[in-house]
Amino acid sequence: MVISPKHIFYEVSAVKLVVEIVLKVRDLSVAISGRVIIRNNNVFVERNSVVFLLGPNGSGKSTFLKAIIGYPGVEVISGNIVFEGEDITGKPMEYRVSKGLTLAHQTPPKLTGVRMRQLLEALCKKTGCDPIEIASVLEIKHLLDREFGKGFSGGELKRAEIAMLLAQKPKLPLIDEPDSGVDVDSIEIIASAIKKLISETPYKSTIIVTHSAQISKYIKPTLTCIMVSGEIKFCGGPELLSEVFIHGFRELVRENKREG
Ligand SMILES: Nc1ncnc2c1ncn2[C@@H]1O[C@H](COP(=O)(O)OP(=O)(O)OP(=O)(O)O)[C@@H](O)[C@H]1O
Ligand SMILES: [Mg+2]
Repeated sequence: MVISPKHIFYEVSAVKLVVEIVLKVRDLSVAISGRVIIRNNNVFVERNSVVFLLGPNGSGKSTFLKAIIGYPGVEVISGNIVFEGEDITGKPMEYRVSKGLTLAHQTPPKLTGVRMRQLLEALCKKTGCDPIEIASVLEIKHLLDREFGKGFSGGELKRAEIAMLLAQKPKLPLIDEPDSGVDVDSIEIIASAIKKLISETPYKSTIIVTHSAQISKYIKPTLTCIMVSGEIKFCGGPELLSEVFIHGFRELVRENKREG
């Protein structure tokens, strides 16, 4: 075969694609209890890429993250999820977590009888982190001897969940509304912890679901995607964030259809 400059270009591009795309979500449709929640969604997360996912309440953002992590009860009805080149669509959540995916929940579960210190110590034993250092960074040392989540304020719960995320040292963190119900000072604490976490991951990438522009003061998205009624309608640059706050989701989707 004669290798022309064109061939070289294609081959180099193919290698680049394999290396650079960390997570591929292709044509993903998902149902819960037989009801279709999200439809035909495509998202590619590249290396060095911070993806913000925005959308109205109930549009399916949390379900999307839960489908990626393999949450029980969230059923993939079509499409697939490929992480580090491996199709993980049918794999259980534990497997995906062992591979380096981790979800920080929008509403973290409350754990009766399990103290926060025990949880952090167990995770840090696996990953080699320092529980006290993590608790200090997130200013939650006073919560260490309490049952996880029990009676935590909204902001404390968010900081506790991000502490768990840090302790797991994920390769690709999926973060659901880290900034909801959080005061401005706590947002700064949470955002700088997330920033540090991203910088320590091998791919320097993440997906963050958010309703707020606050977190973008500290973490800049490289890609902003808008989900409405279970579908990612379009993605764009960071400028989309301010457009959402000026126009709202529905008008933006209408405008985009007209332009498209
Ligand atoms: N376990 C479940 N059983 C039945 N329906 C569910 C379940 N979980 C989610 N849903 C439904 O799926 C839809 C999408 O919910 P989801 O939590 O993904 O939305 P969201 O975009 O994250 O919303 P918000 O911004 O309010 O967090 C909603 O109509 C919700 O009621
Ligand atoms: Mg949600």
